[in-house]
Amino acid sequence: MMQTLTSIKALQDVIQEQRLAGRTIGFVPTMGNLHDGHLSLVRKAKERSDFVVTSIFVNPLQFGAGEDLDNYPRTLEADSLQLEAQGNDVVFVPSVGEMYPTGMSAQTQVSVPQLSETLCGASRPGHFNGVTTVVTKLFNMVRPDIAVFGEKDFQQLSIIRKMVNDLCMPIEIIGVPTGRAADGLALSSRNGYLTAEERSIAPELNRTIQACKDAILSGATDFAHLEMSAQERLQAAGFKPDYFAIRDSNTLAEVTEQTQEIAILAAARLGATRLIDNTRLAAPK
Ligand code: PAF
Repeated sequence: MMQTLTSIKALQDVIQEQRLAGRTIGFVPTMGNLHDGHLSLVRKAKERSDFVVTSIFVNPLQFGAGEDLDNYPRTLEADSLQLEAQGNDVVFVPSVGEMYPTGMSAQTQVSVPQLSETLCGASRPGHFNGVTTVVTKLFNMVRPDIAVFGEKDFQQLSIIRKMVNDLCMPIEIIGVPTGRAADGLALSSRNGYLTAEERSIAPELNRTIQACKDAILSGATDFAHLEMSAQERLQAAGFKPDYFAIRDSNTLAEVTEQTQEIAILAAARLGATRLIDNTRLAAPK
């Protein structure tokens, strides 16, 4: 029977009991409005640990002014049913007051420089500091052995890995491949904002990324040109691209001779909705 907990104290008591019984703890942080992409994270956590905690917290600290904090879909009842069906053990649903008892402006922050400032960080200033701060707090509450994140938010995953490494947090970070609709659109809670017409255009983001990947695999080496023509293709389809970038998947900096693996990452607005997606490939030698 899944337990729903709202206080840090109750969460820590339940986890301590499991730990004393010798069980490993898996953790899946989410903002709720769960779709099959999230459920695949829970399944991975179940595969890799004995007791799974999923958190649902729409974290105000990672939303900028004018972003979708107030409209972000909150669907706790449906989320709980889905989590229970996956065999999730605890859903932790703290209030903003439980997470930030002294207010957000007084909150100690954790920040990962450089990696947090590029790509999505450039268009959403402060966003990743909000993510790394809340994830650090959640990690300290749950003290998991493993934590599972989606590769759809590839930059977020890179930043979390760097943070865990830099701060010597004893947690194994596991990335799970992006779940996709049949037409290739990456599953996202924000897809629910799309109108029917926008939903029919949205898979073009993934198709443009795949076309860029194919071009590199076929020998194209002028990355600046590939990035520009991908942006033009997205614009022609009706997107307002934020960025389309071919980067080193490890550093998220420009591709160099040392690059082992390339990441192609894109963010683009379709009407009022901001979509992101990415893929990776071995750097051609
Ligand atoms: O990826 C998300 O849903 C959020 O950024 C996370 C990791 C739950 C932190 O609020």
